[in-house]
Amino acid sequence: MQKYFPLICLLVLLAACGKEKPTNRIDSKIDSLISVMTLAEKVGQLSLYTSDWDVTGPTIREGYKDDIKKGRVGAIFNAFTAKYTRELQEMAVKETRLHIPLIFGYDVIHGHRTIFPIPLGAAASWDLEAIEKSDRIAAEEASAEGLHWAFSPMVDIARDPRWGRIMEGAGEDTYLGSRIAEARVRGLQGKGIGEVNSVMASVKHFAAYGAAQAGRDYHMVDMSDRVFREVYLPPYTAAIKAGSATVMTSFNEYDGIPASGSKFLMTDLLRGELKFDGFVVSDYTSIMEMVPHGIAADTASAAALAINAGVDMDMQAGFYEASLANLVKNGEVKEELINTSVRRILKKKFELGLFDDPYRYSNEEREKNTVMKAEFIKAAREIGSKSIVLLKNASLPGQDKQLLPLSKDVKQIAVIGPLADAKREMIGAWSAAGDWKKSVTLLEGIKSAVSTKTNVLYAKGCNINDDSTKYIAEAVRIAKQSEVVVLAVGEGAWMTGEAASRAALNLPGIQQRLLEEILKTGKPIVVVLMNGRPLTINWIQDNIPSILETWFLGTQAGNSIADVLFGDFNPSGKLPVTFPRSVGQIPIFYNMKNTGRPMDRNNKYTSKYLDEENDPLYPFGFGLSYTTFNYGDVKVSKESMTGNEEISVTCSVTNAGKRAGEEVVQLYIRDLVGSVTRPVKELKKFQKILFQPGETKEVSFKINGNDLSFYRKDMTFGFEAGKFEVFVGGNSRDVKMAKFEVK
Ligand code: GLC
Repeated sequence: MQKYFPLICLLVLLAACGKEKPTNRIDSKIDSLISVMTLAEKVGQLSLYTSDWDVTGPTIREGYKDDIKKGRVGAIFNAFTAKYTRELQEMAVKETRLHIPLIFGYDVIHGHRTIFPIPLGAAASWDLEAIEKSDRIAAEEASAEGLHWAFSPMVDIARDPRWGRIMEGAGEDTYLGSRIAEARVRGLQGKGIGEVNSVMASVKHFAAYGAAQAGRDYHMVDMSDRVFREVYLPPYTAAIKAGSATVMTSFNEYDGIPASGSKFLMTDLLRGELKFDGFVVSDYTSIMEMVPHGIAADTASAAALAINAGVDMDMQAGFYEASLANLVKNGEVKEELINTSVRRILKKKFELGLFDDPYRYSNEEREKNTVMKAEFIKAAREIGSKSIVLLKNASLPGQDKQLLPLSKDVKQIAVIGPLADAKREMIGAWSAAGDWKKSVTLLEGIKSAVSTKTNVLYAKGCNINDDSTKYIAEAVRIAKQSEVVVLAVGEGAWMTGEAASRAALNLPGIQQRLLEEILKTGKPIVVVLMNGRPLTINWIQDNIPSILETWFLGTQAGNSIADVLFGDFNPSGKLPVTFPRSVGQIPIFYNMKNTGRPMDRNNKYTSKYLDEENDPLYPFGFGLSYTTFNYGDVKVSKESMTGNEEISVTCSVTNAGKRAGEEVVQLYIRDLVGSVTRPVKELKKFQKILFQPGETKEVSFKINGNDLSFYRKDMTFGFEAGKFEVFVGGNSRDVKMAKFEVK
């Protein structure tokens, strides 16, 4: 066989299919291509290897450029820029026999160069348009830097804040998480993956990765099929229905089988039930990890398990490369199975337009004109402010005015804390190609915001996570000199993210000591939290007048926070995850079951702790504003309905304050009696609405049988007749209620 299949022959083959309909035409081209591929070339398409430009997993493989030239790889990740992707693409197209182009993938999780709030923070905006827009911008930048594929959105429901990757998703709620999953896929894929300013999405991690036991990353997952389908599966389903081009497997086992070897997950459920028609990529060496999992004895059996389960592409394990050809030759794996996976991958390469022009995404001129454009920076600042949650805003003793917003004319302000001027931390974990040197710190944001008459003092006060007390005195000194203190505390950027579980949720290091020393000065304090997970900030809640939850807001963090601190933006964020009072309460989430002995402090024999409340520190959906929203009674359009009808649920909401503000009006339901027990509340709708001062709006929602449906005792999905309660409020706790019945 000639070493190089003449390009002209390949073009003739591909052109011969030119007369058919687009999809059939692509299929015919794929058939033609597969017909001339050797087994080794087919297997080569099923491997994904990392470049040495970034490290996102436990093993690095030397020689990826050689892999490219030898046709041993179909896609490369962690390589970007127009220049570098062109260089690597030329190796694939010019030096391999069949000139098949590569796909380039990367973890574009919350922005590419312009970094947006970490996903948990963006989820706190409850602003689906803003979230979609942030991923649209991410796709513009990533595709301008030669990337075809974002390993995003991560949609794993997380009810355990000890798990570091809670920062990477949309929090604890299935409904909110599903809507955000859809928005992110729409943003990334835009008008379609053939558009040069779009990238393929990769919904991950399939499946139920967020339920890792004890919040310990990579730990086992054990749950009923009912809980899986009701709580954890819907966001993946939503992303797939929104058109996610690919799916990434998860590291965890599900029902005793690691996801990358689970035929139930990757074929029966994903392709059978959910009708997914893209390709499945394993997570980083997750095929190899089936050996330590104890489900495969060696490389060959792990590879056989994965390909038979329906995993098309092996990320970084090299197990497909090592074993698949032999497995086919000795009859353990059918070549048709290999062809099916090759076909799925080639189809995306055709759809991306890479066979027409392998370099269409590697355009340096476009890159220069796209990356970190002013409009992108502005968008980052806006969604940053939208993601901030005002947790507390008390007035000072003897004053009726709340501490926030601050005046820009304050004479002297002390900006203190290990996160007050921490550029790298601002872009958080999973910030990939983000340029932290261009991020705006809180100190910089405050300096830009205040008037020229204001003197801004700064002291670190302490480090994020060590016990050195040597910086405290300086912080106390400048606090004493100032009218107000803004104190930035929280976690380091990498204290959340992958492999970053924590057994405690308190402030790391001696930050608590710093807080207490600054409190002793008697100065008014605003605490600005920067963190990737809920923290047990009980002392702060009890002792500090104003608290802003700001997560890690990305490139424009300091400006986004300053806009809220000084009132240019009225905070509207709502928590997408419950904040526990203590680790001992975990797992704690709003949509719990009632139990047969609901908590009653006056009755010993009820479900409670001897040493802790049942209620969280802050409930799901909680967030304050600089104005006040009053909720009227909830009205239903009729007292009863059949499952095929719908009812309107209306509540009048009034902005009772003196400034405009946005409110996330949330609707929850409770099914009082079911063939299986039902949660005490379930989020089913929400609307984020702007209210002018004094304005009242009749906020209306439609509820139908589908909104009331669940996995019944026989595991069929549907609603049941019976009594319901419907709740409307600004969080999952403080709600007004009405009743209706389904006949
Ligand atoms: C990591 C993560 C996954 C990421 C992949 C590539 O281990 O689990 O989310 O997309 O490897 O970096």
